[in-house]
Amino acid sequence: MRKHVVFSIAIVGALFAASQFLLAAEHIVGGPFTVKVSTRSATVAWIVQSDEVTLTGPTAETLSSPTLRVESTTFTSLKPYTRYEYNISSAGDAGKGSFKTPPTGSEPYSFLVYGDNRTRHDVHRRVIAEVMKHAVPDFVVQTGDMVENGNATAQWPIFFAIEKELLRQTSFFPTIGNHERTSHYVEDIFNEGARYYSFDWGNSHFTIIDSELTTSASNDSGRQAFWAEQVRWIEDDLKSHQKADYRFVVAHHPPFTAVTSRQGDNPHMTALTVLFEKYHVSAGFFGHDHNYQHYLKNGVHYVTAGGGGAPLYDVNKPPESITRKVVSIENFVNVSVNGNIAHFQAVAIDGSTLDEFDIESAS
Ligand SMILES: [Fe+2]
Repeated sequence: MRKHVVFSIAIVGALFAASQFLLAAEHIVGGPFTVKVSTRSATVAWIVQSDEVTLTGPTAETLSSPTLRVESTTFTSLKPYTRYEYNISSAGDAGKGSFKTPPTGSEPYSFLVYGDNRTRHDVHRRVIAEVMKHAVPDFVVQTGDMVENGNATAQWPIFFAIEKELLRQTSFFPTIGNHERTSHYVEDIFNEGARYYSFDWGNSHFTIIDSELTTSASNDSGRQAFWAEQVRWIEDDLKSHQKADYRFVVAHHPPFTAVTSRQGDNPHMTALTVLFEKYHVSAGFFGHDHNYQHYLKNGVHYVTAGGGGAPLYDVNKPPESITRKVVSIENFVNVSVNGNIAHFQAVAIDGSTLDEFDIESAS
């Protein structure tokens, strides 16, 4: 009997040691960050690496890729316009962060717009270092192309490692870019059930568009159906938020461009500008072009801020009559909304101000 008990204790001990070994291999490689934030609720998410797989082929090169798992938890019954601190209990300092819920009225708030962080990690790192010299925004709008290939598991921890200090202090609203491709990671990581969506923040309404037609369906008729359905949704969304002081739209592909080789590339987005004008959109934010561009057409501002790290493109043919500013440099845009004035500041990677303007709300 005594032998049996000792044997059982040994087994339990061995299993405990094995489980500790497995747990020891797990660590956070993304986040924490907060998504789907509203006046009443928020989801805290983080990405755990549970293991790593190496791949050896006929050449000397060995590839390695992590196994990732997205964890998240959703809080409800929150108070508007309140900062919350969170703590993932098993993660120590790596699991601490904070976020702010939006106001219900016209209290001041700020947000950051940037995009195209893929490819040159050193430049992406310098852009984020410059972002962190400014006040941390209440939330971040990323205009797409977070990684070079959204299906490549190993690329996501690189993106999140560079963004870590920013994202643990704010909320994140993603946009689909062409480099996210058909990746399931975007939906998984950011808890978004749809590739296009909208949200409210104080006196403003944000409409996030999925302009990536190429990977939206496997054939042309499928792509046309996807876009027709989305355009109907965009019109309904803008029409039903006419009482907001500001309407901001976000998409990866810009309707206008100063990059000669890309002019006329996105007729589906250029056609949408009719709706933007009809429903009094205050400003649109875009990426895809790796530079800074600002246009003003029929009362709508169009800002391309695709300077988050990817190789720069020339701005060699600015569209006549609508161009306010075009510069080929890495950048991001800070927006501060205070009542009926929204102040825009485009900042270059070297900290200099590229462009600065105000939009007064109609109301
Ligand atoms: Fe792109």
